Amino acid sequence: MADLSVTFAGVHFTNPIVLASGIMGITANSLIHVAHKGKLGGVTTKSIWLTPHQGHKNPVMLGTEHYFINAVGVPDAGIEKAKEELRIYKENKSVPLIANVIASSETDYGMITEAITELEPDLIEVNISCPNIEDEFGKPLACSRVKAAEVTKICKSKTHIPVVIKMSPNVENPVEIAQACEDAGADGLCCFNTFGPGMLIDLESRMPILANKVGGVSGPGIKPLVLKMVNDIYKAVKIPIIGTGGVLTGKDALEMMMCGATLVGVGTMIYYYDIQGFVDMAIEMNDWLDEHNIKNITEIIGALNR
Ligand SMILES: Cc1cc2nc3c(=O)[nH]c(=O)nc-3n(C[C@H](O)[C@H](O)[C@H](O)COP(=O)(O)O)c2cc1C
Repeated sequence: MADLSVTFAGVHFTNPIVLASGIMGITANSLIHVAHKGKLGGVTTKSIWLTPHQGHKNPVMLGTEHYFINAVGVPDAGIEKAKEELRIYKENKSVPLIANVIASSETDYGMITEAITELEPDLIEVNISCPNIEDEFGKPLACSRVKAAEVTKICKSKTHIPVVIKMSPNVENPVEIAQACEDAGADGLCCFNTFGPGMLIDLESRMPILANKVGGVSGPGIKPLVLKMVNDIYKAVKIPIIGTGGVLTGKDALEMMMCGATLVGVGTMIYYYDIQGFVDMAIEMNDWLDEHNIKNITEIIGALNR
């Protein structure tokens, strides 16, 4: 058996597969369940706001064979409810917890980071890149080098816990933005949030299918785009990357790691293969490493560039 463990920003993970934010990450029970049943390396919460935030109206998501689109709109009960849930998670904790936070202004990003720090998650992931709340808050801060760096600095000043910035793929200069976050003190990057926004049409009603009209695109169709950008960023920064987008299988996860990811975030896969998909993923990774006589998975991180 190969050793699948990795260390990310000083945190030890027994395997590199982590639940991505937004999928099964609202309650302590669902986090505990998916961590245990999926034999995951770590779990990420859904984005947490300071105060309750209503999402978009239904329909909010649609899956196809090739991609998934969602405009859930980041609904959340706010930090006080999240604290209750995460305290329960911590009492039953089996794997590292990545707390994902979101806000509507730079100052609020600082406040939510400070508030979540009380719960001592292992990592804080800062979501500055959701493409389906542009109607409420305008272009995500992750689309600007200057704003992404500012938020990074503010969050870093409010916590001693490693800060991971969640990047947007919907930019012309992902490498420059990644470097700006690194220079501003980020301890890691999560690459990426969903693509778009995109749109799907119902022919009969001649209307967009999503009530919000547009939504973020995830799932298998985005994988080649994510791999390329993860590799571009890996070559340009020293901080570790959570490669996220379109990973469905163990071989997909290995590709992501060869491009430079230390951890692999997986969300939409559950729509196709359920929680068992995580277990199969780790088995497939292990089998491939054994077949190639690789004893430690860390040997393949960034292998593309050696
Ligand atoms: C239904 C749904 C909800 C999501 N909610 C969040 C969220 O609350 N916060 C966040 O940072 N990302 C959110 N995401 C983005 C995912 O964490 C991930 O970055 C993206 O879906 C790409 O990975 P995947 O193809 O494995 O799903 C969401 C994605 C989906 C499909």
